[in-house]
Amino acid sequence: MSQKNSIIYVAEIDKKLVGFIRCIIKSNEPFFKIKKISKLTDFFVLPTHRRKGIGNKLLSKITLWCKKKKAPDLFLGTLSKSPKSNQMYLDKDFIEFEKAYYQNVT
Ligand SMILES: CC(C)(COP(=O)(O)OP(=O)(O)OC[C@H]1O[C@@H](n2cnc3c(N)ncnc32)[C@H](O)[C@@H]1OP(=O)(O)O)[C@@H](O)C(=O)NCCC(=O)NCCS
Repeated sequence: MSQKNSIIYVAEIDKKLVGFIRCIIKSNEPFFKIKKISKLTDFFVLPTHRRKGIGNKLLSKITLWCKKKKAPDLFLGTLSKSPKSNQMYLDKDFIEFEKAYYQNVT
């Protein structure tokens, strides 16, 4: 599913949705100091289907799409504290970028 500046890829097995990834291209965001940034807004694989390469395939699709759209600077934010899952991003040539802060205000 794609629009000019956003795309969703889904992973299906036996017609069942098992994962998806969504990316949006944003322009002129002051925070990034570059003209176009591709932001990964959603990236999810069903727990029952993890560690089978589905996430890697979805991410590869997105990197190809970003190149095609001439927006090769790809950003993702995650709240995951799992060093193992975050290692995935480092393995895929992401570098740590800035810091994020979070609080629950209830
Ligand atoms: C992140 C996520 C989409 C990865 O999906 P996946 O289908 O399991 O990914 P893959 O099977 O392609 O594995 C990708 C890499 O993740 C890393 N990884 C992820 N979880 C891991 C774990 N529990 N232990 C070790 N490595 C892990 C590995 O480097 C793995 O590569 P490898 O199998 O070649 O060693 C999935 O874990 C998920 O939905 N997590 C919850 C949501 C989330 O955190 N989304 C990202 C927010 S931006």
